[in-house]
Amino acid sequence: MTILKNLEPFPYVPLAHLPTPIEPLANLSRHLGRAPIYVKRDDCTGLAMGGNKARQLEYYFGQAKQQNADTILITGAVQSNFVRMAAAAAAKCSMHCHIQLEERVGDTASEYRESGNVLLDRLLGAVIHRFPHGEDETGADANLQKIAGQLKRAGARPYVIPLAPGHPPYGTLGYIRAAHEILTQIDMLGYSVDRLVVASGSGTTHAGLLFGLAALESPIRVTGICVRRNRHQQTERIMSRCREIAELIGVNNPVHPEQVQLLDGTLAPGYGQVNEATLEAIDLCARYEGLLLDPVYTGKAMAGCIKIARDHDRHDALLFIHTGGTPGIFGYSKLLTDHLL
Ligand SMILES: Cc1ncc(COP(=O)(O)O)c(C=O)c1O
Repeated sequence: MTILKNLEPFPYVPLAHLPTPIEPLANLSRHLGRAPIYVKRDDCTGLAMGGNKARQLEYYFGQAKQQNADTILITGAVQSNFVRMAAAAAAKCSMHCHIQLEERVGDTASEYRESGNVLLDRLLGAVIHRFPHGEDETGADANLQKIAGQLKRAGARPYVIPLAPGHPPYGTLGYIRAAHEILTQIDMLGYSVDRLVVASGSGTTHAGLLFGLAALESPIRVTGICVRRNRHQQTERIMSRCREIAELIGVNNPVHPEQVQLLDGTLAPGYGQVNEATLEAIDLCARYEGLLLDPVYTGKAMAGCIKIARDHDRHDALLFIHTGGTPGIFGYSKLLTDHLL
């Protein structure tokens, strides 16, 4: 597998429990009356309650260790899973962690600000900074650099995990490896999969999987479900991420523009804000499969997956990538409780 050879020069720190299982969602598939839907349980990666970010952090922490850093800085939404898992990884690697929480979702209840991931951030010992804007990726990164500068002047050795594109996409390397893991597993299990369905936020997971599958010459398609921006903006982002990966690992970009598929029908009213289709997806997975989804990422992504199952290729076997995020449920407990009434 030549593409894996290209990843070898990049240092990484093993943080995730791998491989994560692939399981059939037999009850849900039967309920929807269609070809099988499988789930890749990347919510089971370990590292303080699991999620896709564990695979991405393995490479960022590889860089941080190589640079002899002792302090990690990272930015994300108030209920970010990335910052929670970075705080866990920092604890495991005996490093300090500074996290910046951005106000991406207006008008939130107190549990959004204090429970779920925020509670875990504090338990994990991270220093919390607040950033008042939600739609200013470059500004969020710049502020993080400012904090890093202050820490450096005080004698720390900071490593910043950036948010905006335009930086080497180390996190995607974890999902190139995941593409290989998935192909090996479905081959061993004898499953035939036509399409992967995955939440597309920063685009790191989506681009890594797409790039990995294309480089491994797999015919499996990848559909990203938009959880942050509309499909036009996200398409641009995924294409540029794929170009950045090619540059980083020194290969030709194997991803053609028509392979970048995105759906944004379950995004409204916007990032971190719940709609009916998302609540239905959360209910269906909990009640038919005992599978927990969160309102921000996997609930929306599964709503998109169910839409594909109902409206599009009823005969395609789908593999839903469960990217984790379950602590977010507790940040939305009032909304979910009201929905259950
Ligand atoms: C649980 C969960 N799923 C999906 C995503 C989206 O992944 P990516 O940022 O790699 O697009 C995130 C990102 O924050 C996440 O926390």
